[in-house]
Amino acid sequence: MPCMIIAGGQWGDEGKGKVVAYLALKDKPKIIARAGVGPNAGHTVHYRGKTYGLRQIPSGFVYEGARLLIGPGVLVNPEVVLKELEMTGTADRFGVDGRCTVIERSHIEQDMKSEYFQKKIGTTGTGCGPANVARVSRTAKLVEEVPELRPYLTDVPKEVNDSIDRGELVFVEGSQGFGLSLIHGTYPYVTSKDTTAATFAADVGIGPTKVDEVMLIFKAYTSRVGLGPFPTEISQEKAEELGIVEFGTVTGRRRRIGLFDFQLAKRAVMINGATQLTVTNLDRMFKGATKVQRWGDLPSDAKDYVTKIEEELGVPVTLISTGSDIEDIIDLRSEKL
Ligand code: IMP
Ligand code: MG
Repeated sequence: MPCMIIAGGQWGDEGKGKVVAYLALKDKPKIIARAGVGPNAGHTVHYRGKTYGLRQIPSGFVYEGARLLIGPGVLVNPEVVLKELEMTGTADRFGVDGRCTVIERSHIEQDMKSEYFQKKIGTTGTGCGPANVARVSRTAKLVEEVPELRPYLTDVPKEVNDSIDRGELVFVEGSQGFGLSLIHGTYPYVTSKDTTAATFAADVGIGPTKVDEVMLIFKAYTSRVGLGPFPTEISQEKAEELGIVEFGTVTGRRRRIGLFDFQLAKRAVMINGATQLTVTNLDRMFKGATKVQRWGDLPSDAKDYVTKIEEELGVPVTLISTGSDIEDIIDLRSEKL
């Protein structure tokens, strides 16, 4: 299984950070390449008593044997990259492609000051939309022009393809989620790029024939931060009764909460070509599932819930996350071995 893409099946915040960190420690990939839009994403990893909210560096950094790359399709805020390199201590194994678009101060200002972006769409204000506009207009500055990033410049597509050709394991870490795709999502309440597996492959320079697995991640319920349609949304009061209160990693905004949306999930499975599913945050819905590590130890209502997701979507659930620590996971791949 040399190449696996990890993607979100809802509106982002499915728990990709934790899942990629677990998979990295368990499966030991040679490369983890970040794909997706850019620093609008916040992937959270709890590791050895510390919490990391990563916006640019791959979440699998916790596995020290992996080279960490950012593919040319990803927007880069050099300040954020440098800060995260320091925070994670990973500068000696990090590379960024010179063709990445740079997010400039003016892009952030445009994103923050635009009434349309802030009031109608509810963007993260991180400059991603305006930077992608600059790229499409062919006026954007590229990472190869940023002196502070010069030590890290590399040809990401070449590194990734060579590694796959050697039969090594490569992870492509997507960001955001299916419903936020500029093409397939709830337009215009979406991000500034497609956010499905095919685009994640293109972001790091991999052709479709090189991809073996697509791991699609779903929360056991649904959350959405920012504006736009949300058919299965419940009231904040109801969410509080269920004990589900969440805030965004990047913006700190309170997330809207809803039930699992099977219609959205089926479409996400189809368009991403999912081969495996992860269900996260099962403990938030079934308290008896908290920190459980074996299928047999789950309460029966939690088991039925996961089985229903698997049956409705027609793709095996291979990982179930039951808490925020990396060890809080049921790995059905090894249980079934
Ligand atoms: P933008 O990507 O900052 O332009 O924001 C557009 C929409 O996508 C807004 O609704 C954001 O809240 C949402 N969004 C972008 N990135 C993420 C993410 O990583 N998680 C959750 N929502 C996101
Ligand atoms: Mg997030």
